[in-house]
Amino acid sequence: MLNSYAVSARLPVQAGPAGLTQETAMIVTTKELFQQAYGKYAIGAYNINNLEQTMGLFKGNVESKAPFIVQLSKGARSYTHKLMLETMMTTADKIFPDAVFAVHLDHGDEETCMDCIASGVYSSVMIDASHFPIEKNIEITKRVVDAAHAKGIVVEAELGQLKGVEEDVSAAEHVYTKPEEAEYFVKQTGIDSLACAIGTSHGAFKFKGDQKLRFDILEKIQKLLPNFPLVMHGSSSVPQDEVARINAAGGNIKGASGVDASQFLGAAKLGVTKINIDTDGRLVWCRVHREFFRDHPEKFDLRDPGKVFIPEYAKFIAAKNVLLGSAGHLDEVRAALKK
Ligand code: G3H
Ligand code: 13P
Ligand code: ZN
Repeated sequence: MLNSYAVSARLPVQAGPAGLTQETAMIVTTKELFQQAYGKYAIGAYNINNLEQTMGLFKGNVESKAPFIVQLSKGARSYTHKLMLETMMTTADKIFPDAVFAVHLDHGDEETCMDCIASGVYSSVMIDASHFPIEKNIEITKRVVDAAHAKGIVVEAELGQLKGVEEDVSAAEHVYTKPEEAEYFVKQTGIDSLACAIGTSHGAFKFKGDQKLRFDILEKIQKLLPNFPLVMHGSSSVPQDEVARINAAGGNIKGASGVDASQFLGAAKLGVTKINIDTDGRLVWCRVHREFFRDHPEKFDLRDPGKVFIPEYAKFIAAKNVLLGSAGHLDEVRAALKK
């Protein structure tokens, strides 16, 4: 059993739902990573869906010497099949022995959380019941916390709502996290980290006009919950040069904008230890494939653009880790976790 409160915890050899018996040596909890990062830098939490992303993700993090979080969403688990993703995680663990990472369910409902907790591969789950009234959110979150902690797995939950769509549930406007409710929610549920709504949103169209992130909310939460890890969802930067290259290669993405990455370290000082990035990775995929087939119309082998994508994605991850401040911390984290 994984002991979430011991820094040297590691997932044990155990049978997963497919009867897999795997030693997941470098899979650690997000809590262990947050203890190292708190107040100094944020850990990149990257969504992946397939093999090429997995290879690029691990390569980029090892090359930039960063601890990281692999995020698997419900959508990814149905697209690639949950067992395939889980096997990819334990295999990547063997291919990249230097990597130190957490395997995290992104935006789970209760049923999916329970499935991931039973899998023997996830070290962290997010229960997202933020669309329910707070008392119901607490009730659901608490059930997940009890099941997860019994196995040494840690839990992220959310309070407030990001504008746009979050796992099939949509909010027309931001519902900002209320600091006093955050304190109450954390104490009632026993969660290990809290996703706060401060003005970011999922996808490539985040801001109309000036972007305003409510750092004042983070400040208040940090005062009420000192040393408690906070999470920023919807934090892709949607680089304009990436969008321009996609459009120049036949794309039609208009009015896209993202979070200014120069805000990451300021957020980290205010207790944000996990920053979620999915959309930017999708843009890299789109740019590589559009440019590849534009420039090589005679080609049809999937491996050809794949060979371009993997190192490009790795380069993107390494650059993002520099902005998050996590680059270069791998050896020190491994030493602290005795890995
Ligand atoms: O929060 C949403 C993430 O970007 C995951 O997206 O549900 O399409 O996999 P997805
Ligand atoms: P982006 O859409 O900004 O990449 O956010 C991803 C996210 O929050 C995943 O949970
Ligand atoms: Zn999210």
